[in-house]
Amino acid sequence: MRFTDSSNLLVLALVASSCCAAPAPLRQLAAASALTITSTLKPKSSTSSLLAIRSSTVQAKASSSLLPSVRSSTIQPKASSSSPPSPPAAQPPAAQAPVLLSPATAEQAGGGVPGGPPPETTFSANALSNFKVANFIEGIESGFFAGALDSLNKDATFNNASADGKSIANVTTQIAAQELVHKATLEGLLSLANESAVPACATIFPVSDTPDFLAKANLVTSAAIGVIITILQSLAGTDPNLLGPLSSILSCESQQDAFFRMSGSNTPSASPFNTALSQTFAYNIALSFVDPRSCPQLLPLPILPSLNLTSPTFVSTAPATPPTSITFTASGVSATDKLFIGWVNQANPIVYSNVTISNGVATADVPAGLTGIAFAALTREISATTVDGLTNVTIAGPAAVLMS
Ligand SMILES: *[C@@H]1O[C@H](CO)[C@@H](O)[C@H](O)[C@H]1NC(C)=O
Ligand SMILES: *[C@@H]1O[C@H](CO)[C@@H](O)[C@H](O)[C@H]1NC(C)=O
Ligand SMILES: *[C@@H]1O[C@H](CO)[C@@H](O)[C@H](O)[C@H]1NC(C)=O
Ligand SMILES: *[C@@H]1O[C@H](CO)[C@@H](O)[C@H](O)[C@H]1NC(C)=O
Ligand SMILES: *[C@@H]1O[C@H](CO)[C@@H](O)[C@H](O)[C@H]1NC(C)=O
Ligand SMILES: *[C@@H]1O[C@H](CO)[C@@H](O)[C@H](O)[C@H]1NC(C)=O
Repeated sequence: MRFTDSSNLLVLALVASSCCAAPAPLRQLAAASALTITSTLKPKSSTSSLLAIRSSTVQAKASSSLLPSVRSSTIQPKASSSSPPSPPAAQPPAAQAPVLLSPATAEQAGGGVPGGPPPETTFSANALSNFKVANFIEGIESGFFAGALDSLNKDATFNNASADGKSIANVTTQIAAQELVHKATLEGLLSLANESAVPACATIFPVSDTPDFLAKANLVTSAAIGVIITILQSLAGTDPNLLGPLSSILSCESQQDAFFRMSGSNTPSASPFNTALSQTFAYNIALSFVDPRSCPQLLPLPILPSLNLTSPTFVSTAPATPPTSITFTASGVSATDKLFIGWVNQANPIVYSNVTISNGVATADVPAGLTGIAFAALTREISATTVDGLTNVTIAGPAAVLMS
């Protein structure tokens, strides 16, 4: 059956990427993902049409204008050069849609991809580009969690049960499975529009210990939350019937983030409003979790120079009082340049602080009243009031600063 071909391609691409690019722990991670996906080849009874992978998805890639860097030709040679040819898989019985998730993953997650008829929508170009951004970030999230479960499997803080009998590992296992469901949901929606999924990046940087994990989990989840807020605003104008699944994902991500915050001894929710991010800001934060060279498909969004904070470093537990200044290295800018940090926080307009540079070290005050995570971007202008406007004039950033 046609779906078999494209599913095998996915599996082979994963196996191929696991063979060559990734360091050992990530190789295991990629192998584990391949196993998960492989299990999806088993036909499973499902009424959901969201999940059907169509061979036309693969064919459509080459001609899609939204997919500038998808090259199906790069997937096929990789797969065939490093994997034995797959035997033809058994044909799923008619009327049984193939699924991208194993039953075990859905069980761990607390449920699978939504059933029922697909949302009625024409999938605007805006929706498709937004779903690809969400797909890319969910892919990095799920890889990040799977990698942490692997690399921290001997870490006592991560694995010891707390008073409720559950360890951080137990909860992260469920969250990792939920990310796979989110990813499959987005990919199912993309496939309804005959668009391919954004393939996962192979090399996700490992975490060193539980505090490092909690800090990064808070950050990557906040990036996902931030961009989904923005995507929802955008889809409200073009594809209102797509708001349902995405808004359900948004609140689930917020619950996950509350867990990471609390595990780091923070209040579950630091602010009355979560902080919306531009696609480009969220994309650049997500990219900081991976080796971009290991991403088979980058998005058609700018990759910004990083804003390298020397203080404060982003840790799992917020300081008792919020930081009052940041310092960062300022290469390539002159001390006479007039520079500013634009601060993105909650639903407020951008606020700015002056940058002073001395001996290559730059300092900026943190404006009063920022809570949760604030995102800082280096800029020469102070006129933008929205995160989109700030993104357009960002010289370096965004850098995340944990306020509370
Ligand atoms: C984890 O549990 C083991 C066995 O009960 C105990 O010896 C160890 O001190 C605990 N470590 C942490 C960090 O909780
Ligand atoms: C937590 O994870 C351990 C190790 O995988 C497992 O044995 C245990 O059943 C899990 N506990 C809960 C409450 O899920
Ligand atoms: C997807 O492709 C199928 C088969 O070519 C076609 O029938 C369908 O209309 C396409 N859907 C969209 C949203 O383009
Ligand atoms: C941040 O560090 C990177 C790598 O060292 C460097 O290439 C980049 O120029 C730095 N960014 C700024 C704004 O100094
Ligand atoms: C930034 O510097 C300008 C002078 O260049 C000064 O007028 C302004 O008050 C400063 N802003 C802050 C927040 O310190
Ligand atoms: C940012 O740049 C894009 C692309 O040039 C433009 O469409 C958009 O209007 C700009 N946004 C703002 C707020 O300036």
